[in-house]
Amino acid sequence: MVVVAILAAGRGTRMKSSLPKVLHTLGGRSLVARVLQSVEPLSPLRRMVIVGYQSAQVQAAMHSDLGLEFVEQPVQLGTGHAIQQLLPYLEGYTGDLLILNGDLPLIRSETLKRLLQTHQEYQNSATIITAHLPDPKGYGRVFCNCENIVQQIVEDKDCTTAQRQNRRINAGVYCFRWPDLAKVLPHLQANNAQKEYYLTDAVTQVGQVMAVDVADYQEIVGINDRLQLATAYEILQRRIKEQWMMAGVTLIDPNSITIDDTVELQGDIIIEPQTHLRGNTTIGAGSRIGPGTLIENSELGENVTVLYSVVTDSNVENGTRIGPYAHLRGHAQIGKNCRIGNFVELKNTQLGEKTNVAHLSYLGDAVTGTQVNIGAGTITANYDGVKKHQTKIGDRSKTGSNSVLVAPVTLGDDVYVAAGSTVTEDVPDDSLVIARSRQVVKQGWRKK
Ligand code: UD1
Ligand code: CA
Repeated sequence: MVVVAILAAGRGTRMKSSLPKVLHTLGGRSLVARVLQSVEPLSPLRRMVIVGYQSAQVQAAMHSDLGLEFVEQPVQLGTGHAIQQLLPYLEGYTGDLLILNGDLPLIRSETLKRLLQTHQEYQNSATIITAHLPDPKGYGRVFCNCENIVQQIVEDKDCTTAQRQNRRINAGVYCFRWPDLAKVLPHLQANNAQKEYYLTDAVTQVGQVMAVDVADYQEIVGINDRLQLATAYEILQRRIKEQWMMAGVTLIDPNSITIDDTVELQGDIIIEPQTHLRGNTTIGAGSRIGPGTLIENSELGENVTVLYSVVTDSNVENGTRIGPYAHLRGHAQIGKNCRIGNFVELKNTQLGEKTNVAHLSYLGDAVTGTQVNIGAGTITANYDGVKKHQTKIGDRSKTGSNSVLVAPVTLGDDVYVAAGSTVTEDVPDDSLVIARSRQVVKQGWRKK
């Protein structure tokens, strides 16, 4: 039985930002959302987020996470002071409290489980996560006896030169037996360099406290400034990319590729350099993406190829080839075995299978049947300055080069549009439409 509390009231001065620190994003998700994600598998009894600096904004950002409880820390007088705010909320609670700093986005659920296990197994009053860092600057130093029993935690700013040599640091993750912590919380003192009430001081005032080392110290990087945010992004990316490579995805030049951890990939996909996969994107087996491509919140089927293109909020079915230099957006839906070519923009457009839009086109709010051929430079004029209108094109129809389809307009099946036409009225099935002025030739005109 565990209650989780996340410390998210601080401003994060070192970020030099008007945005509260815990709302800064790492790979598409806020820092605090990532911490919440890490505690999910523990099925906590309650989840409490301590908010203070711009608390309305922090709460608004997390409003969709049902069941979260927010506890106000109106002035931020330190991490110990933050936990003091829980006293009225946890009156009579006799279980454990897992406390996590809100700026700790890379902690693994397995590590938290190990912390809880050790805590219960040894019946500790508190158990904390520690790490041995190559560069421990800025972190609280943890001093233990040879049995991993914590004697003292000293903040970097309060360390003597000798103490600062200790590279074992406090990760900012604590499991307390709540009644033990509740007893000492009211007696914390702020006599330290920062004049703050430190949660770390409580550690030396409860019963037995044990330290659990994290296997991979990269899990516990705390985000205090934008440099650490970038470091955390690198660590996160390495994790995600290693996972996909081990699952059968080829990454060519992985350092130039970024993949959000919300992306789902199947086997035998090849991702080429300078490609970025973001948000709720899924890609089917055998697809080849990149080089130079951005895919965001989109679903791509199997054996799809995308070359130097941008695809957002769209859906592409099996065997379709996209690019180079195409832009799909606003819920474009592309059927099987289509070809979307050079300098083509598709917005909120649905293409039936085996349809080609190969060169220099804009299709907006359009729906085509199957085996349609959109000639080079075809444009749907879908906007009259006030409203957007739809263009419909039937099966097997072909538009000539540089034709303009002025919406709302419907072309039937097997329609041919002559090159350079401006089509303003509907065209029935099986017709040729020519909507341009006839060519006039004036011989000997220059002499006259
Ligand atoms: C803290 C620890 C340090 C540890 C480090 C790990 C203390 C005193 N020090 O230091 O031992 O090595 O984390 O990253 O705890 N917060 C509040 N209210 C406050 C102050 C802070 O909610 O009044 C929140 C912040 O929003 C943040 C977290 O607590 O999410 C940690 O605060 P921060 O100022 O970053 O602590 P550190 O100096 O990094
Ligand atoms: Ca911190």
